[in-house]
Amino acid sequence: MNLEQFRQYGHEMIDWIADYLSHPERYPVLSPTQPGEIKGQLPSAPPEQPETMAAIWQDFQQIILSGITHWNHPGFMAYFANTAAPPGILAELLAAALNVNGMLWRTSPAATELEEVTLDWLRQLLGLSDEWQGVITDSASMSSLLAIAAAREATNLAVRTLGMSGRDDLPRLRLYISDQTHSSVEKGAITLGLGQENAIKIPTDEQFQMRPELLEAAIQADINAGHRPFFVCATVGTTSTTSIDPVPAVAEITARYGLWLHVDGAYGGAAAILPEMRHILAGTDKADSFVVNPHKWLLTPLDCSTLYVRRPDILKNAFSILPEYLRSAETDAQAVINYMDYGVQLGRRFRALKLWFVLRSYGQSGLQQFLRHHIEMAQTFARWVDESPQFERLAPTPLSTVCFRASPPGVENEETLNALNEMVMNRVNERGQVFLSHTKLRGRYTLRLAIGNLFTQESHIAEAWAQLQEAVGDWKIERLRD
Ligand SMILES: Cc1ncc(COP(=O)(O)O)c(C=O)c1O
Repeated sequence: MNLEQFRQYGHEMIDWIADYLSHPERYPVLSPTQPGEIKGQLPSAPPEQPETMAAIWQDFQQIILSGITHWNHPGFMAYFANTAAPPGILAELLAAALNVNGMLWRTSPAATELEEVTLDWLRQLLGLSDEWQGVITDSASMSSLLAIAAAREATNLAVRTLGMSGRDDLPRLRLYISDQTHSSVEKGAITLGLGQENAIKIPTDEQFQMRPELLEAAIQADINAGHRPFFVCATVGTTSTTSIDPVPAVAEITARYGLWLHVDGAYGGAAAILPEMRHILAGTDKADSFVVNPHKWLLTPLDCSTLYVRRPDILKNAFSILPEYLRSAETDAQAVINYMDYGVQLGRRFRALKLWFVLRSYGQSGLQQFLRHHIEMAQTFARWVDESPQFERLAPTPLSTVCFRASPPGVENEETLNALNEMVMNRVNERGQVFLSHTKLRGRYTLRLAIGNLFTQESHIAEAWAQLQEAVGDWKIERLRD
């Protein structure tokens, strides 16, 4: 591709993106593609000769697009809906063009310093104290893994140097999560060789919040058994229900036992930008690490997770390694941050650029406006559910996600209700205008309506509500017929 062609296709693709973003509803939100259908349309071997951009572009539009589930669709209300806001998309384009690797300060001073600045801005927006230092990672899964590694480093058990295997002197290291904690924290424990069995799941109460008294009992029992508790994860906005763990009470326990407290606010943490929601981060300033994902509920294109630590030196001690070929004068003078020291990867994308574009384009007021709107729409939907005799809510709605199920009068059997709700969700999803996902709460098949897309409006949640009611109505008619 010569640069003239680059210019031509660049213009064409930007036009295409602007059209796409102005009408994502033209496409079914959940791709109707069957497994293997996309692969079947692609050659199994790479091209021997160069292909034209015209041919590649055509295949993108004809083949790839049909296998896309449209996260930009305002009817996308599954999992945690998100948004690639236009300023973030432009920043991604620039980051790809610059193609800088932010491993060291000198490999692009602006990448490092912009990361410092934007993460400090985000910290201020969230109302956290200035004791925190941030680092951008690809995902909350990685952020939490780094937090566990830092916590293990803080035990001073020399795991960094001696490892964990074949050591008689090492007690079982125990970490504590709740039965609602995202699986990524458990995966972090597995990856770090701590063992899945050593991730203890603390039961939650009827509001799906970790029970601090059971946390303390578990810690105490482990100490009595000769184990070594070292890490607790509390969540602000759990994945299934968006419940908020009682961080102040948990922080009190972790302080008493000298344990590392990690707060997972991957989705929910963003809501603290609203003054009326700031209470969700109560106690977080006492934690050791905190994660929030701008790529979830902060308009930033995937991927962008931010990990904050209050003692960055510990995270650095866990990971920093300086071969001669990466040394520099400013590193020796300790004058700069080299972000390669704060995680696993050496090469790092310039992710701060898109976060900077987004934070500047929306400003505090713009971010507050869209977060507030999402929470209000969730409250509206929750009210519709509460007022309907055909449906019931299965969890509180503190943020922008509603957990509910169809429960028509006279249908008591839990298995029937589970099957009904699965059918209802599938029917709605097949229609292509709304995409919902599910979870199971205390054995009950639970539908989740998660509002997180910038373009979702009341009309979209009304459409979801109408389709849900219709699906339940159809089920009743079919049941009578049978
Ligand atoms: C509370 C919570 N933590 C962590 C994650 C994992 O996020 P990521 O996909 O960035 O690894 C999720 C994903 O939904 C989540 O809800």
